[in-house]
Amino acid sequence: MKIIKAESYQDLSRKAANILSAQIILKPDCVLGLATGSTPIGTYKQLIEWYEKGDIDFSHTSTINLDEYCGLSPDNTQSYRYFMNEHLFKHININIHNTHVPDGMAVDETKECQRYDNLVNLLGGIDLQLLGIGHNGHIGFNEPNPSFEKTTHIVMLDDTTIKANARFFPTLQEVPRKAITMGIKTIMQSKKILLIANGADKEEIVRKALTGPVTPKVPASILQFHPNVTVVYCFEGGIL
Ligand code: GLP
Repeated sequence: MKIIKAESYQDLSRKAANILSAQIILKPDCVLGLATGSTPIGTYKQLIEWYEKGDIDFSHTSTINLDEYCGLSPDNTQSYRYFMNEHLFKHININIHNTHVPDGMAVDETKECQRYDNLVNLLGGIDLQLLGIGHNGHIGFNEPNPSFEKTTHIVMLDDTTIKANARFFPTLQEVPRKAITMGIKTIMQSKKILLIANGADKEEIVRKALTGPVTPKVPASILQFHPNVTVVYCFEGGIL
């Protein structure tokens, strides 16, 4: 595991964007696994800046996101599809049909989970998966559990996650209680993983995940078993 300390949130974003763009330059038709949350916003901003300067070409790249809230449609401003369009896709030359986010409106949720797993396989697997981390150690929406959930599944969100994500919603009541997320096995099958963590409030959980026992009670701890993980962190100061 490669652990890189960033000097600031801006530095973290630049370092993460560097790793993602190196992947695109080395393999233009790569599959990037993408994440939401506030941490990757700066990374996406940096990628857009480099795209605008003519340094990266996304035209052959595909993306597949980790998760989506159940019950939120793509045009709902709180949905992760909307987030991705706003923070990245609409600013770059990616073919929108090559961008994938689970369907939070799927009537048959089990079928949607299977479709998503099949899609990862059809795309030939994920070359580089970008991850954030929740305060309870969740990755995607894989919450602490008695065992690791392997494939894409429906999850009831933890109270701590609902509270943490309430900052993006007008009221706590409006935060969806259910989400669809890639499983740990799918994430672990990515060829490379890039975990980014920012802010003093993430320090304890990152330390636990990277140096503590591997346990489904801290889902991100499984990353200790992955052969190609890079962690970029900055624990001083908040975002931006
Ligand atoms: C959400 C997402 C995760 C993300 C986490 C942390 O729960 N499902 O993928 O890592 O938030 O978000 P933030 O970066 O805002 O702390």
